[in-house]
Amino acid sequence: MRIPLVDLRRQHRSIRKRIHSAIKRVLKSGCFVLGEEVARFEREWAAYCGVPHAVGTASGAAALHLAMLVLGIGPGDEVITVPFTFIATVSEITRTGARPIFVDIEPRSYTLDIARLAEKIEREYAFNERIGYLVNRATLRRLKAIVPVHLYGQMADMRPILELARRYNLRVVEDAAQAHGAEYRSEADSPPAKAGSMGDIGCFSFYPSKNLGAYGEAGAIVTRDSAWAARLRRLVNNGRGDGPWHLEEGFNYRLDALQAAILRAKLRYLDRWNERRRELAALYRQKLSDVEEIALPEEMPYARHVYHLFVIRVPNRDRIRQALNEQGIGAAVHYPVPVHVQPAYRHLGYAPGDFPVAEACARTVLSLPLYPELREKDIVRIARALREALRPARG
Ligand SMILES: Cc1ncc(COP(=O)(O)O)c(C=O)c1O
Repeated sequence: MRIPLVDLRRQHRSIRKRIHSAIKRVLKSGCFVLGEEVARFEREWAAYCGVPHAVGTASGAAALHLAMLVLGIGPGDEVITVPFTFIATVSEITRTGARPIFVDIEPRSYTLDIARLAEKIEREYAFNERIGYLVNRATLRRLKAIVPVHLYGQMADMRPILELARRYNLRVVEDAAQAHGAEYRSEADSPPAKAGSMGDIGCFSFYPSKNLGAYGEAGAIVTRDSAWAARLRRLVNNGRGDGPWHLEEGFNYRLDALQAAILRAKLRYLDRWNERRRELAALYRQKLSDVEEIALPEEMPYARHVYHLFVIRVPNRDRIRQALNEQGIGAAVHYPVPVHVQPAYRHLGYAPGDFPVAEACARTVLSLPLYPELREKDIVRIARALREALRPARG
């Protein structure tokens, strides 16, 4: 029996009735774009994230693009993000004409390294009044925003990021594409803050395999700012205001009504599914904790991880992956090539060796199957296969 990396058919079987009735509702309404389903999903998603506004989008990439635009980011600006992410985090920065500035990740959480972030801003951008580097003041003006990525289902360490952003007058856009329902806990965050709710804007993807996945492409933006929300609502819909008036040029980035209805049907399961992911992650941990060669995912003290992916690090990763695949186990790699060395970004002038942690992770990370419908016996089998695959490496 194969154990795929993700099994959307099994999930569909478990919620088929609700999905069918959601789809029927849309078919009956004859309203396939925007309308009541989208408006309701936006309200429900905003409430889930604990923010006043959500705006549905056609994808996570569209959400990131619009976030940049609404914050006024454009040609000549610079935006800090990580090189260890899905390419859309970066391409939606460059799409505006801005330049991505990479800061390496921290190897336990796989998210933005706070110490390196502070060093980068202070050394390369901050205006040092004592010495009076006017040139640095000019470069600080170019730096507009930070885009932390909540990779694999765990949030970046948001409080220090927000503190740096406040000090240097930078915006923060959370790439929460992989972190639906993930939480951040601190004294200042009681109750814990949901992914997407802490920065100026939070961006989500509802790509089918995500913790909350549509049956096609979908995304959303969340924000506390009413004026931004109103503008985003316009921008997703070709800049259209009331009546016939297009107040500015926008995009066709609308969330479609079928996807909204499906997302509404699935949202009621999200917490339960995330809890199940955490239980299964704990079982993996129990089965693998004595295997020295494996680095298991760590839950940071501030975080509630929702395990969008269960990612370990192993030596001889490609050989281990192949051995698992040969046993019918869908192990995969997210991501084998960091963004700064992708051919698409050759012109940015980065080189191998520039971000050693991201590069080391890209060589060693391995995603194991993890989804709410996975059975405990599947994990037992995967753990056994992994031990066997590692055996030759032990000599
Ligand atoms: C971290 C991250 N950012 C952005 C995106 C883009 O989302 P979408 O595929 O919905 O455009 C994804 C999707 O996989 C992602 O994982």
